[in-house]
Amino acid sequence: MVAPGVNFGSSRSGTLSRSSCDLAQELRELARERNAVILAHNYQVPELQEAADFVGDSLGLSYQAAKTDADVILFCGVHFMAETAKIINPTKRVILPDLEAGCSLSESCPPEKLAEFLKKNVDKNYYVIAYINCSAGVKAQSDIICTSGNADKIVREAPEDRQILFVPDQNLGAWVMERTGRKMDLWQGTCYVHVEFTARSINRIREEYPSAPVVAHPECTYAVRMLADEVCSTEKMIAFCKNSAAREIIIVTEAGMLHRLKKEIPDKTFIPGPTDNCFCGECRFMKMNTLEKAYGALLNMEPEITLPESIRQRAELPILRMLELSR
Ligand code: 13P
Ligand code: SF4
Repeated sequence: MVAPGVNFGSSRSGTLSRSSCDLAQELRELARERNAVILAHNYQVPELQEAADFVGDSLGLSYQAAKTDADVILFCGVHFMAETAKIINPTKRVILPDLEAGCSLSESCPPEKLAEFLKKNVDKNYYVIAYINCSAGVKAQSDIICTSGNADKIVREAPEDRQILFVPDQNLGAWVMERTGRKMDLWQGTCYVHVEFTARSINRIREEYPSAPVVAHPECTYAVRMLADEVCSTEKMIAFCKNSAAREIIIVTEAGMLHRLKKEIPDKTFIPGPTDNCFCGECRFMKMNTLEKAYGALLNMEPEITLPESIRQRAELPILRMLELSR
C-alpha cells in the first residue's frame, strides 16, 4: 500500500495519496506518455511485477532491453541489470527506481581488484567469463558475459586452448564445472541470499513435504544443489514447475519468485525454501525498489544510469557476444 501523502518531489501531481492500484495505473499512463518500457526482474515486489511490460530473468530482460524501441527503460531490478540495459542502449535513458539497489556478487569483484588479478596472472592468458551480476568495469575486462540461464552453453563454447577465469560467483561457476566438465578458476564471490539456504534447512522442509521436488537456483551452495531435483535460472523455474506432475514444489531462491509462480500456475502449491535462521529470504537490494519510487523516478527521470563511454564500449562487446551465442 502507498503511504498517505507520499511526496514525489517536483511532481506535477505534487503530494500524492492513493491506493497502489491507482498508482500502478498512473505509472502505466506515465510510461505511455514518456514512451517508456517497464522491465521487472522476477524478484521485484508484486506491485512492480504487475505494472511491468515484461517480467523475467536476467537473460530475458537483457533480450527485452536489446530489442526495445522505447525511448526510456524503467528498469525495476538491481543496478547491474539497469547498467547492462544502458550498455546496449547508449542513446536511451535508463532509469532505476533506487540507485542503491546493488548486489553482493557485484560488490565481491571490484573492477580494480580484477585488473590487479589479471595483471598478476598475465602468463595464464585467461579467457574471462563474467556472470552478468557484475559492474560495467568488470564486464569491460571480460571476454564474454553469461547469465544463470545460459552459463553452461557459454562455457561449452569457450576456446579449448584457453584457461577460463569465471567471475564473480563461485557457486554458479562450480555448478557449471559439474555440468560441462570444464575446469575453471573461480572468483570467490557469493550471493548473500542464496548461501543462507543450507542442507539442514532443505532436509527439514523435505521431511515436511516428502513428495515435493526441490528447485534451486545455481547460486546456492554445493550442499543445497546436491539435494535439489532441479537447478536452474528463475525463468526456467517457471517452465519446470508448469511441466512437473507434482502438486507441491519447494522453491529455493529469493522469495519474490513465488509471486509469478502462484500467478501463472495457480493450481499448484509453492513452498519457499527455508533457511536455518530467521532470514526472510528476500534480497534487500531487489526490495529497495517500490511502486512509489518507480513512479517518482519515471516522473522526474532520475536516478538515471550513466557511465563513461570508454567503459561502455568495452563492456558492450562481451554482452553482444553472449546475446548472439545464446539466441
Ligand atoms: P536469474 O538470472 O536466474 O533471474 O538470477 C538473477 C539473480 O540475481 C539471482 O540472484
Ligand atoms: Fe545479487 Fe543475490 Fe540479490 Fe541476486 S539475490 S541481486 S545475486 S544479492
